Amino acid sequence: MSYVVLARKWRPQSFEDLVGQEHVSTTIANAILRDRVAHAFLFTGVRGVGKTTSARILAKALNCVKGPTPTPCQTCAACTEITSGSAVDVQEIDAASYTGVDDVRKLQETLPYRPQRDRFKILIVDEVHMLSPNAWNAFLKTLEEPPPHVKFIFATTEVHKVPVTILSRCQRYDFKLISAQTIAARLKFVLGEENIAADDGAIGTISREAAGSMRDAMSLLDQVIAWVGTTGDKITAEGTAKVLGVADRSVLHRLAAALIDADASACVKIVGELSQEGYDIPHVAKNILIQLRDLAVAKVCDTPGSLLDLAQEEIADVKALASRADADDLVRLHQGFSKAFDDIVRGSTARVAGDDADSIGAEAADGAGG
Ligand SMILES: Nc1ncnc2c1ncn2[C@@H]1O[C@H](COP(=O)(O)OP(=O)(O)OP(=O)(O)O)[C@@H](O)[C@H]1O
Ligand SMILES: [Mg+2]
Ligand SMILES: [Zn+2]
Repeated sequence: MSYVVLARKWRPQSFEDLVGQEHVSTTIANAILRDRVAHAFLFTGVRGVGKTTSARILAKALNCVKGPTPTPCQTCAACTEITSGSAVDVQEIDAASYTGVDDVRKLQETLPYRPQRDRFKILIVDEVHMLSPNAWNAFLKTLEEPPPHVKFIFATTEVHKVPVTILSRCQRYDFKLISAQTIAARLKFVLGEENIAADDGAIGTISREAAGSMRDAMSLLDQVIAWVGTTGDKITAEGTAKVLGVADRSVLHRLAAALIDADASACVKIVGELSQEGYDIPHVAKNILIQLRDLAVAKVCDTPGSLLDLAQEEIADVKALASRADADDLVRLHQGFSKAFDDIVRGSTARVAGDDADSIGAEAADGAGG
């Protein structure tokens, strides 16, 4: 059997499995229960947060024989065919390869006819911002006076490229970036189902690197499994950091501690080691900046809760480290490093700028200490 990437294998088939987008699933569920379903939806948000997935779940919710229902049965012909992508009444087109006005016209002409078997004719248009102006105009007609059996679901990462005339006729849903905590929980679930053991540190690193995108998280996990998981060994934090080319959390923690302690020599050594091991210094710097921000937040808020997008045990580490410094120091450290960060990203000698940053950090800590 050929290998199916995790992101595809674990595409949620129901709103229950869709994580981090409860504002979308709840609103849609309520609309279905109250029989107030719009005829055109627009799903927007960054890549890999569940737009296409939700479009397909919504199609099932509308066409399931037991529906319309927020919890489609997953077993009827409509449900199973939508899952496999073969439902005749649910058409999914990719606007990127469907920009011609003739294509849209042809499609338009079929819409007035009743669905072949299911309740609605559903048209899912992915990457809808790629449609040409002419193609939009062709759609506009049907959008203005849609036959009752037609539903449109548009998805796009670039909502600002969608004409207002279209926007105003759609119910718009903004998909959010998914928090690292939520991504971590989903990764844990998937790893459990796949029978693969992993350290919390490894999961934390992947969740953070995914930067809010669940698809990115799954792809990174694939990459890590391909590297370390094939032997049946546990996926470790160090291994994960190596594979992804990012500094391990514990190194960042050590570096932040050295900054707080104004231990310039330790800072330079750690940066030197990272650089020697081939880590991308601007990337390390970005993570340190985030770490410093987290420290400042942990210092000033007793219960930082969702302000810190970290796992429970990481929050404890950050709080312990923050307790070693004054709030003022931490804020100054963050400000100083923030400036240094710009130099690191723009400059050609990242490591030198990085060393400078350490001295800014040391100054900040010194100044406040004395
Ligand atoms: N909210 C989510 N909950 C669980 N898994 C998700 C979620 N969002 C994305 N995924 C995972 O990522 C994969 C890709 O998601 P999807 O195709 O829905 O993203 P998208 O928002 O349409 O992205 P793009 O803009 O790149 O088309 C899914 O197959 C699933 O594995
Ligand atoms: Mg998509
Ligand atoms: Zn069904």
